[in-house]
Amino acid sequence: MIRLAAPLLGPEETQAVADVLASGWLVQGAKVAEFEQRLADVVGVEHVVACSSGTAALQMALGALDLPPGARVALPDLTFPATLNAVLLAGLTPVLLDVDPSTYNLRADAVRALLEDDPPEVLLAVHQFGLPAPLGGLLAHAAEVGTVVVEDAACALGSSLDVDGVPVAAGAIGAMGCFSFHPRKVITTGEGGAVTTADPALAERLRLLRNHGMVRPAEGPATFVCTGWNFRLSELHAAIGVVQMDRLEHLLQDRARIAAGYQRRLAPLTSRGLMLPRVPEGAHPNWQSYVVRVPLGVDQDAVANALVAAGVQCTISAQALHLEPAYRDLPAAAGPFPGAEDARARGLSLPVATGLTEEQLDAVAEALAQALAALGS
Ligand SMILES: Cc1ncc(COP(=O)(O)O)c(C=O)c1O
Repeated sequence: MIRLAAPLLGPEETQAVADVLASGWLVQGAKVAEFEQRLADVVGVEHVVACSSGTAALQMALGALDLPPGARVALPDLTFPATLNAVLLAGLTPVLLDVDPSTYNLRADAVRALLEDDPPEVLLAVHQFGLPAPLGGLLAHAAEVGTVVVEDAACALGSSLDVDGVPVAAGAIGAMGCFSFHPRKVITTGEGGAVTTADPALAERLRLLRNHGMVRPAEGPATFVCTGWNFRLSELHAAIGVVQMDRLEHLLQDRARIAAGYQRRLAPLTSRGLMLPRVPEGAHPNWQSYVVRVPLGVDQDAVANALVAAGVQCTISAQALHLEPAYRDLPAAAGPFPGAEDARARGLSLPVATGLTEEQLDAVAEALAQALAALGS
């Protein structure tokens, strides 16, 4: 089976974990601090608060804003449900926005209209599949109307967006960036996440929220100054993360090679209605996923089944949240969301496993061509 994703893990990660075990210090310590510094260097922000998952990062980021109950948070309808769960579990009110199915991201015109008509307290912009959301022309507008921009950069380590002609790393575009290090992401710690920010006050609050609201003075007992979670990252996970950061450049180059390989091989299928991912001017994706849309009228499940039968693992693009049982009765789910529905119904995520060979890329392209032909496209 050609795997959808496969992290690159070697003896270096094994040794790093063994070293932590031998040290006897397993909870948040020196390795977490080192991992945070490596992330800060790459993202180009002063502060990084590592945590136990991308979902925890979202919860901490929303918590750090100290919003009144019911405050409005705008987010795309097409995303992994964690984005919306973090909003709902914080007692906030989601405002779901449609996406552009050619990028799977928020539509700048829809966000602009919302900022003009009824600005939300927060814009939680997802960089879907590692493609930066079109925030460049929206940041000044958001600041003007008092909307805080938070990035769900779960998939976007190593991506960047031109802002006023200058590339800015995902995670440094808004007030905070939330990352995931799940094994399907470009680097992994097994489970893990981080929040990035340039704002020291937010960073201090994020650190409190991560660790029970606890302040430990140099002497004397700890005090608890706010409610908080245990969202700490363990030293074992952070040690893996430090090694993975050594591999980041290589992993990004490998993703770019795979994406270019697909782009070349699949271009002939566009005349048969296959839609390839579109990268807007000024956006620099990390190709965390490579998602195509099957031709209009072709059954996504049938293509997926044919690919699996040919030994190619694949999956849907992302959830259109308003269609999921957990959310469909929310006022925010009223829609319409034609872009998200198109992306959900037609999007297929192809393998981007590290080290995928040129022969394997040929095999994926061939399997897709045959599946489309068999289904009359
Ligand atoms: C856009 C998005 N946000 C949040 C998450 C949650 O990250 P985690 O699985 O690390 O909790 C994911 C995970 O896939 C994601 O894709």
